[in-house]
Formats: sequence, structure tokens, C-alpha cells
Amino acid sequence: MTRLILYLLPLFAISGLGFWYGNPTTTNAVDTALVQADTTFDMQKALATLREQIKGKENLPADSVFQNIKLLKKMPAGRLLGIMEIAFSNSLGVTCEHCHTPDAWEKEDKPTKQIARDMWVMMGTINNELLKNISNLQSKQPTANCTTCHRGQVKPATSLK
Ligand code: HEC
Ligand code: HEC
Repeated sequence: MTRLILYLLPLFAISGLGFWYGNPTTTNAVDTALVQADTTFDMQKALATLREQIKGKENLPADSVFQNIKLLKKMPAGRLLGIMEIAFSNSLGVTCEHCHTPDAWEKEDKPTKQIARDMWVMMGTINNELLKNISNLQSKQPTANCTTCHRGQVKPATSLK
């Protein structure tokens, strides 16, 4: 125990406890951030155009319909668009533009795109490895997803005020 405290002390000193108490300025807008942050970009229009473009191919694997799928390769193409809207955009309180240049969806021109892939992998580790090993939880299949942490914000809160 003493060893653990000694080990943690430098960490507390370096971070000034910031990692625990968080930055108050980022946590006030949880609910308002659920409203789209960027109102100039028409997300529904972009999705409708894409749905039109993939018509008839909704159930084909994403990597056979789109150009640059590295992670969700076998996900049905139609479902991939649902994930773009709900898991990736709404849960972070952003529009497609946070990770994409619209109509150049296959490009890797924004770092947030790869971050989202890495977050997806992290989410898998949490659900399939870490949560599974915690006994006596209420749910049969306890689940964490993008919304669990992000709650409509790009930077998840680390404290309630
Ligand atoms: C948080 C980041 C993020 C947001 C927001 C996001 N995307 Fe994506 N998008 C990705 C990632 C990551 C991929 C690649 C997935 C993979 O490699 O399996 C992708 C891939 C795509 C593709 C496939 C492109 C291709 O040809 O390879 C389309 C189309 C797309 N997104 C559309 C959208 C639309 C429309 C929105 C808004 C409703 C959106 N995305 C919002 C991260 C995002
Ligand atoms: C266990 C909590 C947790 C989960 C689950 C989670 N994230 Fe994150 N996410 C974070 C943290 C923490 C950061 C870093 C914020 C910072 O820069 O301090 C972050 C940052 C990001 C960023 C960078 C945002 C920016 O513009 O700087 C993106 C994009 C992102 N997450 C997407 C996702 C997506 C998509 C999912 C679901 C697949 C997801 N996250 C799930 C905790 C989480």
C-alpha cells in the first residue's frame, strides 16, 4: 500500500490532480453540446446523398462499397452510415466535418478520423475484456460506448462541475 502511494505521489504532483478533478470550463455544456455544435453543415443532407449513392448495396460489406475502410470492413454499408451519424457524430456533439472533408469521405486529412478508429478499438477492449472481468455488475452484458464517455462533447468531462 505504501509502495502504491509512493508510486502515485509523483503522478499527483505532476498533474496537480487535474486528471481527477478535470477542467471545469469543459464540463458545463453537457446538455447544450448535445445540440449540434456546427449548424452550418447539413448532416442529414449529406447522409441522404450517401444513402442514395449506395442504394441496393446497403447490405454489402462496407469495404466493398466504400473506398478506404480499415476497421469496420465487414459491417453492412448501410449500418456504417448509421454509425457515422449516431455513434461518431451525435455522441461527440459534432457533425461529419469533425473527421471528414465532406464529399472526400475516403481521405485521411483529419487526425480525428484515425482517433475514432482507435477509440473504437478501445471500446472493444473495455467491453470484451475489461468489463467482462468485473463481477456482480447489474447488467448481463455491461456496455460502454462512445456516448458513455463523450455525452455530446468532444472532450469527455472528468468531473461534474
Ligand atoms: C469521429 C469521427 C467521424 C465522424 C464524426 C464521422 N466519420 Fe465517417 N468515418 C470515420 C472513420 C474512422 C471512417 C473509416 C472507418 C473504417 O476505417 O472502418 C469513416 C468512413 C466514412 C465513410 C466511408 C468513406 C470511404 O469511401 O472509405 C463515409 C461515406 C463516411 N465516413 C461518412 C460520414 C458522414 C456522412 C458523417 C456524418 C454524418 C461522418 N462520416 C462522420 C470517422 C468519422
Ligand atoms: C472510456 C471513455 C471513452 C470512450 C468509451 C470513448 N472515448 Fe473518445 N475520448 C476519450 C478521451 C478521454 C478523449 C481525449 C480528450 C482529450 O483530448 O483530452 C477522447 C477523444 C476522442 C476524440 C478526439 C476529439 C478531438 O477532437 O480532440 C475522438 C474523435 C473520439 N474520442 C471519438 C470517440 C468515438 C468515436 C468513440 C466510440 C467508438 C469514443 N471516442 C469512445 C474517452 C473516450
